[in-house]
Parts: sequence; structure tokens; C-alpha cells
Amino acid sequence: MSDQLLLLLSGPNLNLLGERQPDVYGTETLDDHVESARLAAGARGLTLEHVQSNHEGELVDAIHAARGRCAGIVVNPGAFTHYAWAIHDALAAFEGPVVELHLSNPAAREPWRHTSVVAPVASGTIAGFGGAGYRMAVEAVADLLDG
Ligand code: DQA
Repeated sequence: MSDQLLLLLSGPNLNLLGERQPDVYGTETLDDHVESARLAAGARGLTLEHVQSNHEGELVDAIHAARGRCAGIVVNPGAFTHYAWAIHDALAAFEGPVVELHLSNPAAREPWRHTSVVAPVASGTIAGFGGAGYRMAVEAVADLLDG
């Protein structure tokens, strides 16, 4: 299972983690979360790539670039979760496992966060566990790859 790439995708505003609504998203930075995902991936023989963008098209491009190259994707699409059908369609064209990840639990928040357009093209969703979710999401993808 070595030499496999795992893409971690971070959507809009996640670059502000640590400063942004710490009561909701915690005080750890995105770099902190990427580091724990990288450690979890390494322990499972996966090499982590990380892309953060505030622009939907850049996330779509990153998903296209993962096709045929990355074994799986962990994606926290931020607010794009709730309406970005182009991300849905790009993920539908990706052949490997996809795990949707959220720091908070959108289902327990405002009604507009209850819809995910990513969930239908994900193997599963990890939400509401704060930073620990990054490790859990990597483990989930690794388990799916192990069959
Ligand atoms: C989020 C949840 C989204 O509803 C929100 O727009 C975010 C972060 C999370 O990680 O909890 O930006 O994806």
C-alpha cells in the first residue's frame, strides 16, 4: 500500500482556521490539521498532498488532477459543501474513495448547512469531531483502500 497518494482538499475560509470562529472550529490552524493528516497517512503507507483554495474552480482542477494519480480523497469543502454542484460532478468523475470531512457537525447547525451536495458522491462523512476528524478521515480512506 506504499507509494499511494492521498489528496486532502480544503475549501474556502479554512485558511483562516485558528482565527475564524474558534468557538465553532477550534484554535488549531489548518497547518496543524494537515500535519496530523500527514502523520496518519504516513502510518498507513500513504503520502499526503494538500490543496487549499477559496475558489471553486481551483478545487475542481485539483480533483481532475487527482484522477488516475491519487488513490483517494479527503475533502472538507467548507461552505461549498452546501451548493457547489461542480465539486459534486468532479468528485463523481474520481475513481477512488472520497471521504467528506467537517470540523463542526453541520447537521446540528443552521438549516442551510443540512444539505450536502458532496455526500451523494462520498463513501462517507466524518463531522463534528473537531481536529480529530482529520486523522479519522485518513483512517477511513486507508481502510477503504485496504478493502
Ligand atoms: C465546515 C462546515 C461548513 O458548513 C462551513 O461552511 C465551513 C466549515 C466544517 O469543517 O465544519 O466552512 O466545512
